[in-house]
Amino acid sequence: AIRTPLIAGNWKMYKTGTQAVAAAKQLADLSKGAQGVDIMIAPTALSLPLVAAALGENSPVRLGAQNIYPGKEGAFTGEVSGEMIRDAGADYVIIGHSERRQYFGETDEIVGFKIRAALDAGLIPVMCIGETESQREADKTFFILDKQISDGLKGFDLKELDSLILAYEPVWAIGTGKTAGPEQVKEVHGFLRTLLKEKYAEDLAAKIRILYGGSVKPGNIKDLMQLEDVDGALVGGASLNPEDFNKIIRF
Ligand code: G3H
Repeated sequence: AIRTPLIAGNWKMYKTGTQAVAAAKQLADLSKGAQGVDIMIAPTALSLPLVAAALGENSPVRLGAQNIYPGKEGAFTGEVSGEMIRDAGADYVIIGHSERRQYFGETDEIVGFKIRAALDAGLIPVMCIGETESQREADKTFFILDKQISDGLKGFDLKELDSLILAYEPVWAIGTGKTAGPEQVKEVHGFLRTLLKEKYAEDLAAKIRILYGGSVKPGNIKDLMQLEDVDGALVGGASLNPEDFNKIIRF
């Protein structure tokens, strides 16, 4: 396959450092020998160095941050920079998660600044997009996704987007137990692939991994991964349990 699937676990604001280390070690053990899949977990930033040390540098379980400050350094109390994230042992950073958009006022423009900061620090950005329930009901899904991509990636050129990963997470499916049906996921991922082709280039569109997120579980991952344009998953709740997450990795 041209795109190696990525299964990413977003631990959100769960697990202390001690708990994160224990879960990461358990996952590293369980996931031994898993082939043809990239694995990433995103604990809270505080736990990154602890988990990185526990896993070791060559672990197939890679690390991501859940957020980044869109600037190199400075007097920005409480924030964490890309360089700090990289230095703590992470390769990836999740950007524009719907919870950040919803509760922390993250706009498409801020998402763009954060993607810039991630790339500058040598991190792989996982850019989250997705429509709310009311937007879907109003038939605005494609319009919203197009806007999130166009505005979030404004000013980037082709080459810069080489490492970009997209995560489609319908907001109404996050933490709700409602997964988008295979038809819905297929339709949206196909739309996104075409959009990337039209906006950028065929080879870039073929390279970018598009993850699905929203109530992914051991029981539904297989069907999702069978869809042509689904290149992995961004898993919340089910990633907190290493046994469940290991089952998802082995879709
Ligand atoms: O980042 C992960 C998503 O928000 C999905 O969360 O799997 O708990 O629905 P969930």
